[in-house]
Order: sequence, then C-alpha cells, then structure tokens
Amino acid sequence: MAQEVRGVIAPGKDEPVRIETIVVPDPGPGEAVVRVQACGVCHTDLHYKQGGINDDFPFLLGHEAAGVVESVGDDVTDVAPGDFVILNWRAVCGKCRACLRGRPWYCFDTHNAKQRMTLTDGTELSPALGIGAFAEKTLVAAGQCTKVDPAVAPEVAGLLGCGVMAGIGAAINTGSVGRGDSVAVIGCGGVGDAAVAGARLAGAAKIIAVDIDDRKLDTARSMGATHTVNSRETDPVEAIRELTGGFGADVVIEAVGRPETYRQAFYARDLAGTVVLVGVPTPEMKLELPLLDVFGRGGALKSSWYGDCLPSRDFPMLIDLHLQGRLDLGAFVTETIQLDEVEKAFERMHRGDVLRSVVVL
Ligand code: APR
Ligand code: ZN
Ligand code: ZN
Repeated sequence: MAQEVRGVIAPGKDEPVRIETIVVPDPGPGEAVVRVQACGVCHTDLHYKQGGINDDFPFLLGHEAAGVVESVGDDVTDVAPGDFVILNWRAVCGKCRACLRGRPWYCFDTHNAKQRMTLTDGTELSPALGIGAFAEKTLVAAGQCTKVDPAVAPEVAGLLGCGVMAGIGAAINTGSVGRGDSVAVIGCGGVGDAAVAGARLAGAAKIIAVDIDDRKLDTARSMGATHTVNSRETDPVEAIRELTGGFGADVVIEAVGRPETYRQAFYARDLAGTVVLVGVPTPEMKLELPLLDVFGRGGALKSSWYGDCLPSRDFPMLIDLHLQGRLDLGAFVTETIQLDEVEKAFERMHRGDVLRSVVVL
C-alpha cells in the first residue's frame, strides 16, 4: 500500500517551497522506503528551487539524509528493514566501464528508484539528486542506502550524504593528501571546511585556509586549519607561498567554483603539486591560463565529484572515525530545524550565516 507523508516541494522556478502531502509507493524490485530522521539543507536544493539544475518541477527537495530502512523490494538483500543508513547519490551499477575497471567511485551509470513519488493528484515529483528527503519517508534505490553504525546522531550522519563527503573526499580521495603534506583550501564554507577536516585526518602538516570572510576563517581554524589568509586583504598566492618556504602547497583545494579562485589555486601550489576543483562553476564561467604554465608546473589538475567517494567504503569508515573522536562531524551542524523552516534556512545559507542547517524529523 502506498503511503502518504509530508514533504517539502519546490513547486516552480523561484517560488517559495511548501509542505505538501507526498505519495510514497511500496518499494519495488531494487528499491527501499526509508523513514527519514534528518536531512541537511544544501546549496544544490536552492539551485533546484531556482531552476538552476533543470526545469523538471515540482521537485521534492532534500538529499543529505540519514534514516531507518522501513521496507525493501522482494529481491533486496544488501539492506533490511531496521537498518540505519545514510542516503547516497552514487548507487554504483557494477557494470559500466568505470565499475568494470575497478573504479566504482567514478561509476558512469548510477541509479535511483524506478517508481516515482507523486502528489495526491498524481503529479510526478522529481526528487533532488534522486533522493528527495525533506520528507517523513522517501523511496530510493536500495543501493542508495549505506549502512553505518547506528550510534551516530542522524543529523550528523546525514551530512556525509553530500557536502561534507565532497569536501573530505576532495582532500583524501581526489587530492590524496598524505602525512606531512602542505594543503591550502580556498573557500571555507561547509565543503571547504570539510576539506580542512579531511586534510587534518590524513595527517597534513600545514593546512592553510583562505576565505574573504573572517567568520569563516575562525571556523576553519577550529576544523584544523593551522594558518588562515583573508584574501580580501592579502594576496592569497603570495601568502600561501610565504607559508610554504616560498614554494606553494602540495595540494590546493578550490571550494568556491570560480575562475579567479581556480587561478589562485593553480599558482599557489608547488611544482608537481595537485589542484583539486570541488567548487561547482556555472556554465558561463571560462578559465584562461598560459598553456606553458600548465605544462611547465607539472603535477595534476583534478576535479572532484562528490569527493570521488565510494559510499560503501567511505561512509562507514568516516562514521567510525567520528565515533572514535578523530573526526568532529558534529561541528558542521550549525542548527537543527523543522520541516517547515527550509525556506528560512535557504535565506540563512545565502547570507553565509550557517555551515549546515539540518531538518530533523
Ligand atoms: N575567495 C575566497 N573565498 C571565497 C570567495 C573568494 N573569491 N568567494 C566566496 N568565498 C567563500 C565564501 O565566503 C564561503 O565561505 O567561499 C565559501 C563558499 O561556501 P558556501 O557558500 O557555504 O558553499 P559550500 O557549501 O561550502 O560549497 C562550496 O562547493 O559543492 C560546491 O556547489 C558548491 O560551489 C559550491 C562549493
Ligand atoms: Zn558503474
Ligand atoms: Zn548537496
């Protein structure tokens, strides 16, 4: 029997979000229904609402979530009712060319639930990133459910489902930050701070946080930054070079998504160093660099999608490290809110007042 629950939808371009009754079908083959316990508010939800991702309104927003599996389709064996899970948007296929080469974190054919959730009048909803978790329950592909230790608080666990994983993964997976490395992170919002925390976890010796907002630099310091640079006042390339013996950092992580900060990242790294772009640019942005510098400086210019994470490998590991006190994921939760406060949370996010607002259900 399909169930009716409350959920937050974006009805149309730039219209305020609102709570509606959502019809959640019973899970079919390969699917699971999850009782959502917490879901963070991410920039991508705002982009959906603004029509910046596509025009498939109405959207069921929310995608940084944790909860308990309520029911699964007949053939599902990896998760079972009662499992505590983090939802992911990288349910790997196991069959594409990336998966077959043993690189499932690049899977080119990830999947979501096949059935659609609807409004009571039958209107089909587009779930944000194939999840849609600003709702009491949601229907997902079973592969989108990653079991983790239920000792963790749901509002903390859910954050690994998107932004925090993107930042930590940019450092430890894409950037391969290692013990003793010098790392610079440009842009210290939720994603950049997670990159700082990831760099600390990986044993970086020097972690330089760069932002244009002193409040953000204070938070970055509490996440593990050893040095901070306000790039509104100081040239960040010079400052990073000065702090690294005149050379530049081994790994520079760009967590803003703009050409000017990418250029800073490019020139602030040491010879043969690595640049990781985890900030998401917009379609009209262009980058111009002397090709001779690209060649002559060597190293690697990489981008990081979802922190190149493999949920089944990374989520349980990071939750365990959190529970052991070695990774303070709780520091990313600025406030917990109710389902009807998502619109207000977007405003706070827009003003830069929060790392993460998390809806608890
Ligand atoms: N130089 C340095 N820092 C900057 C600059 C700049 N020119 N412009 C903005 N910033 C800082 C902001 O002050 C803020 O602290 O970058 C940070 C961006 O953080 P958030 O807006 O909170 O965004 P976040 O959730 O961290 O995501 C960052 O990663 O996943 C992507 O889409 C996401 O592109 C976005 C980026
Ligand atoms: Zn695949
Ligand atoms: Zn997100």
